[in-house]
Amino acid sequence: MKRLQRLKATAALRDLVAEVGFGRAQLVQPLFVVEGLAAPEAVPGLGDNDRLPLAALGARVTRDLEAGVRQFMLFVVPAAKQARGFDAGFASRAIETVKARGGDAATLWVDTCLCSHTASGHCCLHDSRGRQDLPGTLAELASLARAYADAGADGIAPSDMNDGRVAHLRATLDAAGHDLVPIMSYSAKFASGFYGPFRVAADSAPQHGDRRGYQLDVRSARDAYAASERCAAEGADLLMVKPGMSSIDLIAGIGARTGLPVGAYQVSGEYAGLTLLAREGLANFDAALLESWYVMRRAGAAFIVTYGARLAGALGLS
Ligand code: PBG
Repeated sequence: MKRLQRLKATAALRDLVAEVGFGRAQLVQPLFVVEGLAAPEAVPGLGDNDRLPLAALGARVTRDLEAGVRQFMLFVVPAAKQARGFDAGFASRAIETVKARGGDAATLWVDTCLCSHTASGHCCLHDSRGRQDLPGTLAELASLARAYADAGADGIAPSDMNDGRVAHLRATLDAAGHDLVPIMSYSAKFASGFYGPFRVAADSAPQHGDRRGYQLDVRSARDAYAASERCAAEGADLLMVKPGMSSIDLIAGIGARTGLPVGAYQVSGEYAGLTLLAREGLANFDAALLESWYVMRRAGAAFIVTYGARLAGALGLS
């Protein structure tokens, strides 16, 4: 009797036998920087994760570092939407701004995708017949990634799901002398209804169709394993499942199959689910947020990308 209660009697006993624990070192804080914006703009559901003008980015990074954030994921939203031939100038200035503030204390990953550049809002280019232009897509991704690394990015995080992009990015980075810049691949990324706030933040909603032609179908774990094994074989250093909370069943299996660290991205809709529950008085936000992180850790996540990373210190994580 009471066997399951005995070690729950005090916080110290619960800490003693907790199977997982983690700290701010394993959390990654997203940042949105938007070209041409006059003042920060709130994103519905994302709390203090504003769309930031470049002029406000440095101060945000400084405050985040003071709060103990060590890892950042930068999303760059350029002003001009184009068909192809994307310009990394604004992104480079943003990367330089973060690194000027953070230096080695801020590890900066840069989300690498085409959807906030393309007039179509898609993560790939299309040819004149409306079919995916894979060689053109890979060339654009590689030139962006190279520019990001040249500007000082610590890591490249391709989120596009196009075939062969990790191999192409790896070869491009190596040839440019960035052979120590790791690739964090969004390797198991599902077509999802949970990206809503992000598409407002990054101005990246598809203007025609959807992303089901290249993102994974939630009904299939098989494809998530295959896509992750593909990214590992192509040279990814870190893998990720996304949406994180609804993919926890896959994390351990991907880790076992690839031998690589697998992170979880608690995506915008998942995070907004918590903020909106709390706003309605239906949940204690802090408790629910911590619970969600512990569950992803329990499932085997090596790291977590979350809009709440900057809150972790206040929640008691070391
Ligand atoms: C870009 C990208 C998306 C997210 C991260 N990178 C959106 C999408 O694929 O539609 C979603 C992140 C979130 O919802 O928090 N390809």
